[in-house]
Amino acid sequence: MLQFFWMDSKMILLLLIGLAVSIRGETDLKSLIPQQVHLSLSDKPNEVVITWSTMEKTADSFVEFGLTLPGLELQHGNMTYFEECGKKGCRSQYIHRVRLSNLTYGASYMYHVGSSDGGWSPVFSFKTPPSPPALEGGDSAAQWAPRILVLGDMGTLNAKSLPYLQEEVMHQSADGILHVGDFAYDMDWESGALGDEFMRQIEPIAAYVPYMTCPGNHEEKRNFSEYRARFSMPGPYESLMHSFDMGMVHFIALSTEFYYFLEYGIKLPVMQFEWLVEDLKKATTAEARAARPWIVAFGHRPMYCSNGGPADCNHYSSRVRTGIPFLGLLGLENLFYEYGVDLLLWGHQHSYERLWPVYNHEVKNGSIEEPYRNPGAPVHIITGSAGCWEGKSPFVLPAPEWSAFRSTDFGYTRLLFQNVSHLLVEQVSVDKGGQVIDSFWIMKDEHRAYEYSVI
Ligand SMILES: [Fe+2]
Repeated sequence: MLQFFWMDSKMILLLLIGLAVSIRGETDLKSLIPQQVHLSLSDKPNEVVITWSTMEKTADSFVEFGLTLPGLELQHGNMTYFEECGKKGCRSQYIHRVRLSNLTYGASYMYHVGSSDGGWSPVFSFKTPPSPPALEGGDSAAQWAPRILVLGDMGTLNAKSLPYLQEEVMHQSADGILHVGDFAYDMDWESGALGDEFMRQIEPIAAYVPYMTCPGNHEEKRNFSEYRARFSMPGPYESLMHSFDMGMVHFIALSTEFYYFLEYGIKLPVMQFEWLVEDLKKATTAEARAARPWIVAFGHRPMYCSNGGPADCNHYSSRVRTGIPFLGLLGLENLFYEYGVDLLLWGHQHSYERLWPVYNHEVKNGSIEEPYRNPGAPVHIITGSAGCWEGKSPFVLPAPEWSAFRSTDFGYTRLLFQNVSHLLVEQVSVDKGGQVIDSFWIMKDEHRAYEYSVI
């Protein structure tokens, strides 16, 4: 009897050890499985960068991709260690990046990401842009006109716009997404666990179309370490500022946060300003503007807004507009005006606001009948109402002269480029079930510096 009891105890012990090993093994594999897969564009039109995370180090980082089965290719990448420490301790992960170059234009690729010891992600897909036309003679008419979704201030909790964005991507009605700052509220919470949750949450859209970003104030902790680690924007500035082309459009992404978190150094807004001048110079040569007539810049904090409450954008001289207080240096409005930037996109205010073409608080409409035909200044859109738990930003009454349309509905914005001269902008209200609550055309006979505008 005693022997049987001993045998039973031994068997139970062995079973427990087996169970523990089994659980451990399962945990280990889980920590090696890819998650948070997302795409970004590079500085070449037929190239994408794929980024993802694993909780433990894998033996290698692969993307397997191709147009058809059989015929898949294997591309190696690299991984970096990232650690976030908070009140409850530290969490670490490995962030993997693989660049796919020399892709076929106008094609649909399937891919998955993984490693030799951690297994693979689900299979995703993405499309490459049409082949760029020969541009001798400045023929931009044949350039590709992309469809872009713009959102700001979404958050992990109350990400109201996410189901709508998923449907847009599923129906292939978007070629790219711009997220104009403020991501998870906040990525560093619970030592980065909320950042992981946010990145998993956007995978159903960001694994299929490029998810292009700029930082917001909610990414500020430890000098934007979460933001810099997780995204893979083009250029050498760790995603803080960058530019990229999509067909006939040149996009510029900026960190407005350099103007507000001066504890990280005055050198940062100086460096960005100098970089921006160079980028605008290159984008506005006769040859470049013929190839990519539309120039769109985006950042997090607006230079104008008509919301109440504490906000710099409702000051007459906001930092982004006129520069560092007292010094009056590094203001961006003059640059955008002088170089003829067509459209400026912002977030931060949890609302949607369309401005009349404006420069130095002066409305510069093209005409009374058609304010956005050959406008005399850049057009501003503030679209920071994608969701988040912080609530909405009410507006002041009456609206300033430069404010054309305002809504506090949750939602996001569509930029539907049509051709060299026409851009259709639409605001989608999630509160109204996907209804377009604002729609207008920007029409330009010529894209050039406003000071020389014919208006
Ligand atoms: Fe913000």
